[in-house]
Amino acid sequence: MDKNKVIEGQQFMQGFVRLCSDGWLQGWHERNGGNLTYRLTDAEVAACKPYFNETPGEWVNMGVQADNLRGAFFATTRSGGYMRNVAVDPARNTGIVQINDAGDSWRIVWGLEDGGVPTSEFPSHFMNHSVRVDVTDGACRVIYHAHPDNIIALTKVMPLDAREFTRALWKAMTECIVVFPMGVGVVPWMVPGGADIAHATCDLMKKYDAAIWAQHGMFVSGPDFDNAFGLMHTIEKAAAIHGHALMMNNNSGDFMNTITDRGLRDIARDFKLTVNEEFLD
Ligand code: 13P
Ligand code: ZN
Repeated sequence: MDKNKVIEGQQFMQGFVRLCSDGWLQGWHERNGGNLTYRLTDAEVAACKPYFNETPGEWVNMGVQADNLRGAFFATTRSGGYMRNVAVDPARNTGIVQINDAGDSWRIVWGLEDGGVPTSEFPSHFMNHSVRVDVTDGACRVIYHAHPDNIIALTKVMPLDAREFTRALWKAMTECIVVFPMGVGVVPWMVPGGADIAHATCDLMKKYDAAIWAQHGMFVSGPDFDNAFGLMHTIEKAAAIHGHALMMNNNSGDFMNTITDRGLRDIARDFKLTVNEEFLD
């Protein structure tokens, strides 16, 4: 029996691979840009365990720690791997890691064949999982990082402020406030791949389910692949609309027509949303 085929055939792995391909088709993953992690359910771990490697890899310390992820298992993309290659060879371009009892190290139990390691952003993913698991009562399973052009472009011309970004995005397209009623956080430019940017991002994830990284990209979270991908897609589309409208309006944000704060409050009322009041006038 081909053990890789069994793990690749699991529903969660199919969803994982599909998101990677969809993100590539959107143009969000130049070269090795972007990465994805998924926290397995106990049932998924049990279904995969017989097909894990006979000898797991060495424990590798992450430089971050989370009590609520002790012993968890994550599917992850490969550091340096290309999203466009994930569907072609999941066992090489993705893998499953186990977290130790201390909640501070991982080891490879499947995939990442030929010497691969989890994404360099694993510390950020891990800390975001920890915070989102906490604030969603365990519902959060997916953390997704992409490099979408329009949101990155906006971080070059707008103040790096959560309120400014959220209001521009909410007003770009009517249903944005329904998709991200708490708004989006903004991390100033930082060196990627380490514990510092992980802590800065997870501070924001206590409040938001999406965080923009200035001149870099975005992190989103969700209970499943559809919600995480849909959140990334919606924010990026709103950023494109805002950017196009700015260009059509001589780079002025003083638009002839826009959604008023009153309009946003009316949507919140009718859709029964708990919105971030701090971001409304
Ligand atoms: P990885 O190839 O290590 O996942 O890095 C890509 C990336 O986008 C870093 O922020
Ligand atoms: Zn990146």
